[in-house]
Amino acid sequence: PVLVVDYGAQYAQLIARRVREANVYSEIVPHTLSTEALLAKNPAAIILSGGPSSVYAEGAPSVGADLFEAGVPVFGICYGFQAMARALGGTVAQTGLREYGATDATSTGASRSILAELPEQQNVWMSHGDSVQQAPAGFEVLASTAGAPVAAFANPAKALYGVQWHPEVKHSAFGQKVLENFLFNEAKLEPNWTTGNVIEEQVARIRQQVGSGKVICGLSGGVDSAVAAALVQRAVGDQLTCVFVDHGLLREGEAEQVERDFVAATGVKLHVAKEADRFLEALAGVSDPETKRKIIGREFIRAFETAEKTLIEQAGSEGEQIKFLVQGTLYPDVVESGGGEGAANIKSHHNVGGLPEDLQFELVEPLRTLFKDEVRAVGAQLGLPQEIVGRQPFPGPGLGIRIIGEVNAERLELLRKADAIARAELTAAGLDSEVWQMPVVLLADVRSVGVQGDGRTYGHPIVLRPVSSEDAMTADWSRLPYELLARISNRITNEVDGINRVVLDVTSKPPGTIEWE
Ligand code: XMP
Repeated sequence: PVLVVDYGAQYAQLIARRVREANVYSEIVPHTLSTEALLAKNPAAIILSGGPSSVYAEGAPSVGADLFEAGVPVFGICYGFQAMARALGGTVAQTGLREYGATDATSTGASRSILAELPEQQNVWMSHGDSVQQAPAGFEVLASTAGAPVAAFANPAKALYGVQWHPEVKHSAFGQKVLENFLFNEAKLEPNWTTGNVIEEQVARIRQQVGSGKVICGLSGGVDSAVAAALVQRAVGDQLTCVFVDHGLLREGEAEQVERDFVAATGVKLHVAKEADRFLEALAGVSDPETKRKIIGREFIRAFETAEKTLIEQAGSEGEQIKFLVQGTLYPDVVESGGGEGAANIKSHHNVGGLPEDLQFELVEPLRTLFKDEVRAVGAQLGLPQEIVGRQPFPGPGLGIRIIGEVNAERLELLRKADAIARAELTAAGLDSEVWQMPVVLLADVRSVGVQGDGRTYGHPIVLRPVSSEDAMTADWSRLPYELLARISNRITNEVDGINRVVLDVTSKPPGTIEWE
């Protein structure tokens, strides 16, 4: 693999994605890994990511100079570029000048190296305080900017390269080309990582992990669990039973859809567990988001344990303990739950940070290294219908984290109605594939005064949160047509008794997350 060493920036994920977009497999590793451990993973190339800190900050991670002697091609980006310069004897100065956002970089070197086939002047995206003043011995300076005399360098003899800017963000006009120059021209890699390979590899891995054991898979109705289940089914066929936990936090029509679309497409064995009471009881009186997430994560597992018992009973004398639980955990879930060392815990995704400690199942997580768009591609290749692979994401904790405040049956009913209207209108407007997802949120503890008919109302607001995104790591609010917003607002306030206001969330991510909790 190409290893992306994570210096604590969310950019590491983006870098890994861009490398994969070039059809080269890439993984993120924490910067705390020793050079020896890093090399033990047999990297074809190494990319050092950006990071939030200055190389001079107290406790700032450094890179051992031995990494650059191993003969593996290395590409340093931003912080990684500076750390490389410093480790090899270049000068990095705290100039106090910050360069942030779009910047012009000018090619300076005689050779182009990683800047091959690019214009002399290119627009790049910068975010740095310190800057490299002098490249280490043996390096040629390839580009400079107003604030960074050494903005890119190369030492082809040792296969070491670096840029001060962020080639992984779309704002860097030729960013992908720079990465590909490094991967293909300099590191001499082949673009041979494809969806087909992912399936083959995961199927082999699942067979090895599971052997002849029995497996259950929680289906949520979303893309991830559906694709995970389809992969496991491809690997071990009948050993798999899917369990759909109806936790009472579902949207309208959700349970029916799973039964219809997924079972029809795969023919998988399905067990529906009706567990709304268990979840609602456990959630009673709770309004703190992290507590809710943890409770839902725990009750999911308890529901699976109950389902397992039922399945064993149903199997009669054939019944045997089910040892494995499949989860559609994705790479961003792992990293955002603090799984990537050095990254902050933003939210406990129900299927990662929310797992109880006394878990009796061994987890099978075939999508743990994949991004959402890669999961969709895998699903399509496995033959899942467009209704499933094209579905907008819906979080496992469901409407439980879209009611701001305590969750109860009455509030769920309100939100379910409002959500159904918003979704139907979005679909009718033909915008399903343009909008990444549109959470509909009930501000259950907020009330405002309104007037309807001749009377005063004192109802709750509903928030519409339509976003566009590539991978849910970052997002922008969607500019939905006013007519559509007006229709949704009219219908919700007219048709859902108890809602008298509809508001639009116009926050990007960051600073907001997509879900409100
Ligand atoms: P946030 O709110 O973190 O959401 O910006 C990013 C994406 O993840 C979804 N999400 C979840 N999905 N379990 C899931 O399966 C969870 O606990 C969870 N929390 C958020 C969210 O809908 C968005 O697509």
